[in-house]
Amino acid sequence: QLEKVKELIELRTQARLGGGEKAIEKQHAKGKYTARERIAQLLDDGSFEEMDMFVKHRCTNFGQEKKSYLGDGVVTGYGTIEGRLVYVFAQDFTVFGGSLSETMAQKICKVMDQAMKMGAPVIGLNDSGGARIQEGINALGGYAEIFQRNILASGVIPQISGIFGPCAGGAVYSPALTDFTLMMEGTSYMFLTGPKVVKTVTGEDVSQEDLGGASVHSSKSGVTHFTAKTEEEGLSIIRKLLSFIPQNNLEESPLVPCDDPIDRLEDSLNEIVPDSPNKPYDMYEVIGAIIDNGEFLEIQKDYAKNIIIGFARFNGQSVGVVANQPKYLAGVLDSNASRKAGRFVRFCDAFNIPIVTLVDVPGFLPGTGQEYNGVILHGAKLLYAYGEATVPKVTVTLRKSYGGSHIVMSCKQLRGDMNYAWPTSEIAVMGGAGAVEVLYAKEAKTAEDPVRFMAEKEEEYTKLFANPYNAAKYGYIDDVIEPRNTRFRIIRALQQLQTKKLTNPAKKHGNIPL
Ligand code: COA
Repeated sequence: QLEKVKELIELRTQARLGGGEKAIEKQHAKGKYTARERIAQLLDDGSFEEMDMFVKHRCTNFGQEKKSYLGDGVVTGYGTIEGRLVYVFAQDFTVFGGSLSETMAQKICKVMDQAMKMGAPVIGLNDSGGARIQEGINALGGYAEIFQRNILASGVIPQISGIFGPCAGGAVYSPALTDFTLMMEGTSYMFLTGPKVVKTVTGEDVSQEDLGGASVHSSKSGVTHFTAKTEEEGLSIIRKLLSFIPQNNLEESPLVPCDDPIDRLEDSLNEIVPDSPNKPYDMYEVIGAIIDNGEFLEIQKDYAKNIIIGFARFNGQSVGVVANQPKYLAGVLDSNASRKAGRFVRFCDAFNIPIVTLVDVPGFLPGTGQEYNGVILHGAKLLYAYGEATVPKVTVTLRKSYGGSHIVMSCKQLRGDMNYAWPTSEIAVMGGAGAVEVLYAKEAKTAEDPVRFMAEKEEEYTKLFANPYNAAKYGYIDDVIEPRNTRFRIIRALQQLQTKKLTNPAKKHGNIPL
């Protein structure tokens, strides 16, 4: 019997070496950790339980039967993060470049199925050369099996993708289907077709980094939600992210003890909005001042900077924050900002996370650039997301809230639960200058002093409409609040809304404008 135990221990040791010591050295030389090292850092110490360590590929093409490794190119299993159950798969680049075989896909699908049964998040750490070329269609079938599970798990359990190396071709669609993607700066890239194919098909010369590096996907495409400089930082972001979200769609996010006084007055907020409506201020200062201990986990921070999204806590309760940023493009809504915020609102709604919206929006960005790329549809996504959401929704209007963008940004009629406004709010169909252009252009022509005439009319309009009291008069705003008291009023509102029950009409699914 002892011999058999010894054999087991030897096999385990062999499996833990993945593609072997040389390949591990190569991985380290690139400044990268191995799959097992990443899992060890991601999970609570000693909590990892590995599954399918003895699985081997079954391919016999191109002499593959002579080359195989215990566990094949992925390490899978479960463990805990802050004591909460999670399932993990980490592609092992030391085995055939982490390329996906039929059996690897089976291993990944097994942990995904287990996660669905248990109602726990799945974290995928990607580092792979794509479909295992020797296996052909079986590798492609494997991807499809994974994608199908990503789709069915969407909105049921949180799914997080870390990209720690290459992720190319069809492989990109698993991260794209998951809730959050994190990329490593300098060592990871994601693209559907690599630089060589791009050159052949379009003649364009582009490097891997410029085509699909972390900088591209964090600022230009919005494909990644987070980037990290080191693998340690990346893995700690995933741990932090999980602390804000529940295990599944039937649970609530963990409540964290809060030592930040709930009635903390923030005097600076009474003066933060400049007297001139055209002067910006920094929405980050407002967010930082009202949330617990200023701790904000921002998502897609370099993409569509005119809108800010991220997780924070109010009195220990996790919330999703959506806020226009007047400091960038005057906080205007455009296609990218709408898509960014729309998807986030839907994540929060799917996972029972209340949404706090801070509004200072002058309107939608005008012009052919936006209209030609379908801003109507993209804006509708955000509108749809807010209108569909049944989680508690608290909205605070700080300054501008004009026209269509007023409606889109979680207004009362989109089933906003508590809609507050600061006294500096301007809630109206449009700004004064634009409004008098439409209303008085003809009369101005015959006026003695057209410039003065228009200035007077603008002042008249602004006095009448650029305030929160018109909206409050109709109950579209529940209360006009003192800015320094915003934290307390939001916390009170969230406490009130804890027992909120609201369901949408039964349907197979809606048809969100895509
Ligand atoms: N199928 C089978 N084996 C693969 C593979 C794949 N898709 N991708 C990489 N490998 C193997 C390599 O053959 C190499 O094996 P070896 O150590 O026995 O020589 C090992 O993985 C490491 O790859 P290597 O090319 O040395 O690493 P690299 O860091 O220099 O380059 C890639 C990484 C991903 C850029 C490169 O391997 C590549 O272009 N792979 C193919 C990507 C692709 O077109 N996939 C198509 C499917 S979508």
